[in-house]
Formats: sequence, C-alpha cells, structure tokens
Amino acid sequence: MTPVRTAILVSGRGSNMVSLLEAARDDSAFPAAFSLVVSNRPGVLALERAAAFGVPTDVIDHKAFADRESFDRALSARLEAAGIELICLAGFMRLLTPWLVEHWRDRMLNIHPAILPAFKGLHTHERALEAGVKLHGCTVHLVRSEMDAGPIIAQAAVPVLSGDTPDSLGARVLGAEHRLYPHALRLWASGRATLEGERVFVDGEAGAAAALIAPGL
Ligand code: GRF
Repeated sequence: MTPVRTAILVSGRGSNMVSLLEAARDDSAFPAAFSLVVSNRPGVLALERAAAFGVPTDVIDHKAFADRESFDRALSARLEAAGIELICLAGFMRLLTPWLVEHWRDRMLNIHPAILPAFKGLHTHERALEAGVKLHGCTVHLVRSEMDAGPIIAQAAVPVLSGDTPDSLGARVLGAEHRLYPHALRLWASGRATLEGERVFVDGEAGAAAALIAPGL
C-alpha cells in the first residue's frame, strides 16, 4: 500500500510530531509518509526537530495575513502544492476557519489532551484536577468546526494520582499522547478505522482497538 502523504502542523515544541516521525522511521510499513512540517511561528523547536529527521519544513507566519481565512487559504495551497493528502495537527495553536475545516473534512486529525467530550479548550490538566476526575487522558479525533470536537478515532486513559499537580498529570498524559497519536494515525491512514455517520469504527467495531488504558505505565 502506498503510504498516505501527510503533513504535520505545529506551533511549538513538537513532541507529538516527534512521536509520529519516530513511528514512521521505525516501521517500514507505516501507512503514512511525512512529507512536510509547517509551523505558523518562525524559530520554534519543532522546526529544528523535523529537520533532524530530514523532513522538509516551512513557516507560514500568521502575522503576515490580514485575517484568518487568508492565512488558512495560503496554508492549504502550500499543502496541496506538496501533494498532501492528510493533515495531523500536533500542538498547532490556531483557531481554524470553517473554510479550512470543510476543505480538509475527514482528512485532518487533531490530538487533544483530555478524554473528549470532557475538558475541551485550554488548561485541561488544571480543570481535570479541579473536577476530581479519577481518569484523565487524551483523544485523537477528526477535526470539525466546533473546537475540540469531531469523530473520535482513539483515546488513551491514565490515572489521576494523589498529589498530582497540573504538571505531573500533564506529563503522564503527554506520555500517553506519544503512544496514542501514532496508533490513531495508523488506524486511520491504513483504512482500518472508518467513519459511519459521525462515529469511527475500527475493524467494524466501536471500541477496543482504539482504547489505550494507561499506556506505558
Ligand atoms: C499537546 O499536549 C497536544 O495535545 C496539544 O498541544 C500540546 C502540544 O505539545 N494539542 P507538543 O508540541 O506536541 O509537544
């Protein structure tokens, strides 16, 4: 099977990006090939890290555009010029316009540091601690116009431990993210995960293959 030409969009440190690049490097049968990394911010660590993997990088600085949609259209044109078929958002800190989301419908994945639909938005680890949840985690989903919403491809759960701070809990979740994103992308890019209505099924089933419990603990 020809791997799906995939771009990763980043804004910062790029640790999830690295987990994806490592998965593809270590598995010659990985169903996605990373052809481009794009950052909306110049000089970020993720760009250096991508270059170290030999992946082409580009910066499209959102500050150079008059409005969100003109930025999104320039970004999309750049991706299409590179023959990109699938986008992975990995810490891409931009609100996306409906135009971009629709244009790449079912071809754009995001990772969110909470078990959606709980704790959409920012500061998820603080909010999880405040809410007293006993399990926290992360979600990879298809992107829809509403922020942090869309069909769920895979989720990972980690325990909340006594004495956790937002940082210690966040580090545990981040470790799970690094396991989950390559797994979810593998499911989606290989065609094992499919969309029926707005639900994702893996091998025709709703659950198990897409649920990671305390990965790496
Ligand atoms: C991750 O926690 C991800 O879930 C969220 O932003 C963070 C990005 O971290 N969307 P990194 O840039 O991948 O290290």
